[in-house]
Amino acid sequence: LKPLTVGIGLIGCGTVGGGVVELLRDQAAEYTRRLGCRLELRKVLVRDTRKSRGLKLPRGLLTADPEAFFSDESIGVVVETAGGVKPVGDLVRRALESGRHVVTANKALLATRGNELFALARRRNVCIAFEASCGGGIPILGALKFGLGANRVDAIYGILNGTCNHILTQMSENGSPYAAALAEAQKLGYAEADPTLDVNGADAAAKLAIVASLAFGVNVKLADVRHRGIDQLHIDDIQFGKELGYTAKLLAIGQRLDDGLALGVEPCFVHHHEPLAQVRLSFNALSVFGHAVGHVMFLGRGAGRMPTASAVVSDILNVVGGWYPTAFETLRLWPDQQRPARLAHPDRVTGRYYLRVSAHDKPGVMAKLTRILGDHGISISAVLQHETAGDGGVPVVVTTHQARQGAVRAAAAKMARLPVVRGKPVCMRIIDLPSG
Ligand code: NAP
Ligand code: HSE
Repeated sequence: LKPLTVGIGLIGCGTVGGGVVELLRDQAAEYTRRLGCRLELRKVLVRDTRKSRGLKLPRGLLTADPEAFFSDESIGVVVETAGGVKPVGDLVRRALESGRHVVTANKALLATRGNELFALARRRNVCIAFEASCGGGIPILGALKFGLGANRVDAIYGILNGTCNHILTQMSENGSPYAAALAEAQKLGYAEADPTLDVNGADAAAKLAIVASLAFGVNVKLADVRHRGIDQLHIDDIQFGKELGYTAKLLAIGQRLDDGLALGVEPCFVHHHEPLAQVRLSFNALSVFGHAVGHVMFLGRGAGRMPTASAVVSDILNVVGGWYPTAFETLRLWPDQQRPARLAHPDRVTGRYYLRVSAHDKPGVMAKLTRILGDHGISISAVLQHETAGDGGVPVVVTTHQARQGAVRAAAAKMARLPVVRGKPVCMRIIDLPSG
């Protein structure tokens, strides 16, 4: 028999948690109608109860004392919107151990302690719902787990970090400085408490580990995902890419190759006409290539208060409605139940590449650069060089046809050793999406 009221305990009441409180308050009557029982917020655990939150919370709800939180036996579902691995992982563990279902938006936690927590949930006969952990408001995990189950997924290409996509859009379209665009993303509530995790690609890597586990049906660990962020990306490369018809995007890519999975997060170029290139600001997207369905693309707000709260509260409804716990118990789709991912050798990944070399403006330099590419079996697709400003250095941009990553890296390393080249060449992938 369904209880008349289900008690909700919320850990964390910042950007996302605040949105959850608002949705539970404003849509209470509708949720009761849909579920046939009431959802009632019973405790909100934070660090500092005196902090102003711009929210009206009933008296006695807010606490900074985990004991007061966990001793409230009326709480049946714990919603974690605090973030980070320590100490929040232990709070989530405690929630599961005490027999409560958990809803979380915390990709960093799942990517590092997911297996342990999923296994614990199963032992305790409860579930973990985590749609909000990847792609903000877009229901990509549900779509991968339940909507595309008939497919062998061959590749996924995702824009999975709203902060980086906001920064890249502002830099590319408005010429905004990197620091100003990052500050704006923080103000809009998109960034992690430590925004380094956004801009260095770690946040997108954690999301890719989760998404890839579900898409490819294997257990992907965070360490399986190589990542590079946008913090080292130079505005000149964004502009050169634009001249050549490309948009710079931080892409999370998973590909099924003959020798295993290639998984990585890095700044890439995508042709202006590709749908992924048109994903702007805090929007996220995921392109999935399934053997039966072909290309499916999901698009929506990937960060921010209400889009993320939408995913969290939808999970609460699915947990309380009983659908999610049944799926969690009966379907062997969860990362802790899968075999480990076999990884492809990164050098064997093939694709097209963008190379920028800062060279002395002297006779014979271009010939030296193109000879190195030729020696490595790399064919040139386009060359771009502008007249110099007169300081003797000139950026030479080359795009390639299909080449092995290992060969491109080796060629770039050889170019770096030329006396006529200054610094390390910049190397970025150009992504041509499969025709789906
Ligand atoms: P936030 O605004 O910084 O809020 C974090 C909240 O958690 C604050 O209320 C903080 O308490 C509380 N908190 C932190 N550590 C705690 C602890 N040890 N015990 C109790 N409470 C604790 O963060 P957010 O942007 O809402 O993000 C929260 C989570 O959602 C993160 O996992 C993030 O990755 C994920 N997420 C965020 C977004 C987004 O767009 N922001 C989107 C998807 C997923 P005080 O208020 O007292 O400091
Ligand atoms: N910091 C994350 C982002 C929040 O910018 O995408 C959503 O997970």
